[in-house]
Amino acid sequence: MAVTLKKGNIPATPHTEHYSIPNVLALEEIHGSYGFNGSYTRKIHVRSYPTEQSKLPEAADFSLSSKVVSDKALQPYHILTQNIPFEKDFVRSRKPLLVGAKTAVSVSKPKLSMNENEFFKNGERHEILYVQDGSGILKTEYGEVNIRKGLYLIIPKGTIYKVDLTSPEAFFLIIESQFPITFPPHYMNKLGQATLMAPVVETEIDIPEFQEPIDKKGEYTLYVKHNGGNVTAITLSHHPFDIAGWEGTFYPFGFHIDNHHGVSREIHTAPPMRQTFQSGDGNSYGFSICSFKSQMEGWHQKDIPAPYAHSNVDSDEVLFFASSNYTAREGVIGEGSITLHPGSIPHSPHGDAALRSMKERAKVSNMLAVMLDTFFEDLLVTEVGYEYRDKEYALSWYKAGQAVSGKH
Ligand SMILES: [Fe+2]
Repeated sequence: MAVTLKKGNIPATPHTEHYSIPNVLALEEIHGSYGFNGSYTRKIHVRSYPTEQSKLPEAADFSLSSKVVSDKALQPYHILTQNIPFEKDFVRSRKPLLVGAKTAVSVSKPKLSMNENEFFKNGERHEILYVQDGSGILKTEYGEVNIRKGLYLIIPKGTIYKVDLTSPEAFFLIIESQFPITFPPHYMNKLGQATLMAPVVETEIDIPEFQEPIDKKGEYTLYVKHNGGNVTAITLSHHPFDIAGWEGTFYPFGFHIDNHHGVSREIHTAPPMRQTFQSGDGNSYGFSICSFKSQMEGWHQKDIPAPYAHSNVDSDEVLFFASSNYTAREGVIGEGSITLHPGSIPHSPHGDAALRSMKERAKVSNMLAVMLDTFFEDLLVTEVGYEYRDKEYALSWYKAGQAVSGKH
């Protein structure tokens, strides 16, 4: 994030003597990316370093690692996440469905808040959550963000947080990247402000609402995800939300999908016009996240709003359907479906979608989906993803074609 924030009680000059409690020296910590050259935040702990563990670390009683089904034939996948049960809390309900060397896609469908003295930290990947359903509070060391349907939550690697629910259950899509997740750099000017033609406005974010530091001793369990999904339970001697203040650009924030302000053109708008976030360099590593929301379709008198068939050879494409409305996949996908279209084979709309889409010409379409396109990275299906797949998805274009020719 480029918007620099200052919250709470911090020294006027970095790395200087400071007291948020009289006569107790406050302790500084830098939470940063790309070595000491990337985005970072300076945190001021009221009295304890974040390194104070009161017990030896142990493997947690759960794991977030995943086995892939790499020996299966190349094929597009359709995973019915709507059939995955709601269970446990946000962390223990996480299920990786698609994984690559740098990227992972999971869902979490919790029905419980996390225990009061338990916290989570993704120590290996940055996260972007999409709230498909439910409400609650993302509680972090930087402050709180209200969770609501349609919100993206960007959580930098290393952020200590927990998820409390205020609804009976919730449904999160979780995308992880080894690289920081930002608004696309090509939308930003040299000072980090979104240009006037960008479909996003960098200030239209939900910033964490700062909370007073919790200065408490005790036993607090921090589950740290590391090394491909292993989870270690670290016992801290003090409450981890002990931040007197912070300043910087590296912090969790929310961005509602409604705040992606679509850009249309006279003929079909290709996915890069719908990009909301990026991880990596936007070229050779990382991924692009696009928001497929309703927007004005092309107004050329012969425009075909449905997409063309495409072989996007350098990307594996993942679509999460927040709504079952999607002209190109009508009758095939449902709300909550995830599709994986590998770059090795083309994909296209189903059946007579191109013909049907002409009714949408110069009108506002009806859709809500989140897309991830990797840059030069293959994604593999996990055993859980495989279990919830639509077994005959690879035949769905043929079947839709047959159904159309049967009508004529
Ligand atoms: Fe596609």
